[in-house]
Amino acid sequence: MAATRIPYMRFIITGRTAQAVKALHEQYGEVVRIAPDELSFINGDAWKIIYGTRPGHGQKQKDYPTADGAPSIIFSDDVDHTRMRRLLSHGFSDSSLRGQEPIIKYYVDLLMQRLREKAEAGKQALDMVSWYNFTTFDIIGDLAFGEPFDCLKNSTYHQWVNIVISSTKFGAYTNVARRFPGWKTLSKLITPRKVFDQRNLHLQLTKEKVQGRLTKSNERSDFFGNILKYENTERGFSFPEMVTNGSTLIIAGSETTATALAGVTYLLLRNPRVMQRLQEEVRDTFTSEEQITLENCNKLEYIHAVLTEALRIYPPVGGGLPRIIDTQGDVVAGHFVPGGTIVSIAHMAAYHSAINFKHPEKFIPERFLGDLEFANDSKTVMQPFSFGPRNCIGRNLAYVEMRIIVARMIFNFDMELDQPSDDWTDQPNFLLWDKKPLMVRLTPRTKVQ
Ligand code: HEM
Repeated sequence: MAATRIPYMRFIITGRTAQAVKALHEQYGEVVRIAPDELSFINGDAWKIIYGTRPGHGQKQKDYPTADGAPSIIFSDDVDHTRMRRLLSHGFSDSSLRGQEPIIKYYVDLLMQRLREKAEAGKQALDMVSWYNFTTFDIIGDLAFGEPFDCLKNSTYHQWVNIVISSTKFGAYTNVARRFPGWKTLSKLITPRKVFDQRNLHLQLTKEKVQGRLTKSNERSDFFGNILKYENTERGFSFPEMVTNGSTLIIAGSETTATALAGVTYLLLRNPRVMQRLQEEVRDTFTSEEQITLENCNKLEYIHAVLTEALRIYPPVGGGLPRIIDTQGDVVAGHFVPGGTIVSIAHMAAYHSAINFKHPEKFIPERFLGDLEFANDSKTVMQPFSFGPRNCIGRNLAYVEMRIIVARMIFNFDMELDQPSDDWTDQPNFLLWDKKPLMVRLTPRTKVQ
């Protein structure tokens, strides 16, 4: 890997980066070379240096292909990023979140109703990956554009949900192609036709959604409401920027949270002790579903630890997010790294390392509840929402969705895995996981209202 980037490129294209980098860290320790000019770290102290800012050091530049199109909040220089983040952050404030609770509740009510109907109609297992995706997709559609995609209403995928993962696969092929001269042509040659077509369809659908939003004035505030207040001003977004950011909100806001929900469901069903303790917390605290609100869920200790531990074992963003060291070089976790070197912290590798966590492969939420056995765990290395000025803007929204959905699943259903011996987490990773179906049998509990 010191000699050529080819092995790392193969990991990227075959969706094995997260697992391969984890194996390299297990073999070689805290810092490994994954390509001639690229290093991967798993030390918690590296977050501040690589992703944060400090006197004399601004943000380290992201290492990504420079596309022809408009920038988005994720793919932008610092000036554009500050402008975009300022405009978008309004929709993610605490007060906005409180105002969004009835919308989230509406879709979670619908999810529970649909699952009850299906479970009462027969004993067949349901694919929870699909159902969580329907829910988070409808929620982000409504929060961002003021209307859902009607996945839950119709109990079926909007064609859009199916193709979202293709955008991350498209990113993987582009990432490999960009290292070669004439990469744009090469990118078209190596990217499978289906991935290419689905990526274009995703952009087309986003464009139509944004155009539709521009022609109507929503009474209720949505993310675009604030963006449109600044239309045609220096602070505002151009139309192509509305499309790139609309696309980002849809992918970042639905796929990640649905992944975390599927992951926590799987881990709970594989760990009956943890499931039982969570059931006791939820079922002893709430006597009716109406009590399961944002405010009441915030008071639950164990559910928060369960979600955090699930994000450790199965982080929705599995690989590292590369940054470039400033020209003068920098010291990362005690190692001098020359300018121009690409560096990252690999989520999966860092969270599964025995250097950072005792019994790293075991699902033990108590490690986040002050259990002395885990006092030496490196909690600071856990940054599943990233760190610094470009960290996840939707972290609080994601936690609200996850807490309410998990609490209501536990309140409403007893669950069991259809294929308990299958390792569901063994999946390809293209930065996000290319998830397989998670088949779960649901038994509705008697409704207490
Ligand atoms: C469990 C759920 C989630 C996880 C694990 C997660 C993780 C992340 C990570 C690791 C980043 C950094 C990406 C980078 O540096 O390239 C990020 C950025 C971002 N996330 Fe999330 N995310 C989640 C949910 C959400 C939700 C619900 C939204 C709502 C729309 C959202 C919107 C965004 C946006 C807009 C960014 C870009 C922020 C910026 O560059 O300033 N995410 N997320």
